Amino acid sequence: MTSRRRPIITTLLCAGALISCANDNGVRSRSAVTLTTAPVGSTSPTTAPPPQASSTTTSSPSSSSAPSATTIAPELPSATTIFEAPTPGAIGLDDPYFPTYGNGGYDVQSYDIEIVWEPEGGTITGTTTIAAVSTQTLSAFNLDLHGLVVADVYVNGLSAPFAQVGTELTIDPDEDIATGATFSTTITYGGTPSLQTGEAGIPGGWFRDRKRGAMVFGEPEGAASWYPVNDHPRDKAIYRIRVIAPSDLTVAANGLEQTRETIGDLTTWEFAPVAPQSSYLATVVIGDYSIVDGGTSASGVPVRNVFPNDRITELTEAFAKQPEMIDVFEGWFGPYPFEVYGSAVADGLDIPGALEVQTLSLFGSRAVFEPIIVHELAHQWFGNSVGLVNWQDIWLNEGFATYAEQLWLEATVENYDIEASFELRASQEFDSLDIPPGDPGPLEMFGTSVYVRGAMTLHALRLEVGDGDFRELLHTWALTYRNGSATTSDFIDLAESVSGQQLDELFDLWLLNPDLPDMLGDVALPD
Ligand code: ARG
Ligand code: ZN
Repeated sequence: MTSRRRPIITTLLCAGALISCANDNGVRSRSAVTLTTAPVGSTSPTTAPPPQASSTTTSSPSSSSAPSATTIAPELPSATTIFEAPTPGAIGLDDPYFPTYGNGGYDVQSYDIEIVWEPEGGTITGTTTIAAVSTQTLSAFNLDLHGLVVADVYVNGLSAPFAQVGTELTIDPDEDIATGATFSTTITYGGTPSLQTGEAGIPGGWFRDRKRGAMVFGEPEGAASWYPVNDHPRDKAIYRIRVIAPSDLTVAANGLEQTRETIGDLTTWEFAPVAPQSSYLATVVIGDYSIVDGGTSASGVPVRNVFPNDRITELTEAFAKQPEMIDVFEGWFGPYPFEVYGSAVADGLDIPGALEVQTLSLFGSRAVFEPIIVHELAHQWFGNSVGLVNWQDIWLNEGFATYAEQLWLEATVENYDIEASFELRASQEFDSLDIPPGDPGPLEMFGTSVYVRGAMTLHALRLEVGDGDFRELLHTWALTYRNGSATTSDFIDLAESVSGQQLDELFDLWLLNPDLPDMLGDVALPD
């Protein structure tokens, strides 16, 4: 933190609606204009009066002498001043597919999320405290929050002005935040969470079940429907989640239950933080559920499941092989990356498919099938522990988890033939497989090609480098990027270094060229 007043006018691109600027006396004020043209401004006297504190979400000027945003001040500041000038964090992280997703200027270290669930009204009241480190001198910064109303914001304990426009929450603390500073932001908010369908076209976020419960499916862009977030998978953080709900309901979340306290009709549930996770992998599950022991892997990973109370027997049976699946995957990928695993099945909520929430995969009420159970478990290594830098690389999640379905069948079905299975799949779905899995476009991120052709890519690689190198590659991949994030080129580099082979052509053909390559033929590689 610096206590220095910002010396020049800064241009805030606060979701295009609210800007903050300084008048000739250095008094900041707000103007309702769309954009300013350039970061222009003047130096201000060091005796400048403090800014007008305001926590309004409107954009009315707080000073009658406020200049318009396009006012050009007579003097330009010195180059040094320009260099040090605090600027607002960007409204996005420049993801190639979703440039406005996430926010620039800081790195989140941890989220402390507390929500109160009121099933009758379907509302939540939340308080989220975010510890972050700034990566520039910040005059303001953004978070993502969808469909909920912010009541107040504190930055380092001081009430901070803010504005909500669409999904962008812009916070404009009175004091600038110096580069590299750790700062704390507490946001109190509430409302009726609503699903969000973003640019990937998939509704996500806070789903109510058929009774008084709810659960969050956050991928790719539903996290902002229940907490203020830097919503991009690249910014992993530690989560501490606390839920207050009527005492007749059961609550689960990422990680193991740490404490549970009942006062009157309400119970507070708190969960131990798990390893750093991407924003879409945070969840809560609330409702008429039981926590059911699901066994332990040979290596000692405990499995706990969360099943609707009227389906416990059936689902205990359906999920019984999870410990054995962990054993098989530890053989291929190395140690299971987290301290606990398990699956939660939605109570009468027919969400298509499932989501690999970190340590607690979620299933739609009718999505309980063995290949999906296998698939979501494999994501704990690929997608969760090894996360994404860019959404474009989604095949690193979905292709790997889909290939893991094949590895499970190979390990458990006598004479199982992966190639034959892919040949069949290719003949059935040939028309969907000409989308390059390495660049599917935002609307095909969860399409057949990313899953199936992504998996075929790994099999083609395995055929090329041999089982020994392939196993070593998967182990090294999981270990090198454990609790981190990686790109497709990181994977290609590692594959080349483990195998000692030049593999650009193989990856180009499988990941980027539209035509589906032949599994065995056509991949002529130089030695
Ligand atoms: N990652 C999920 C899976 O393993 C897919 C989630 C995308 N959301 C969706 N509704 N398709 O398959
Ligand atoms: Zn998947």
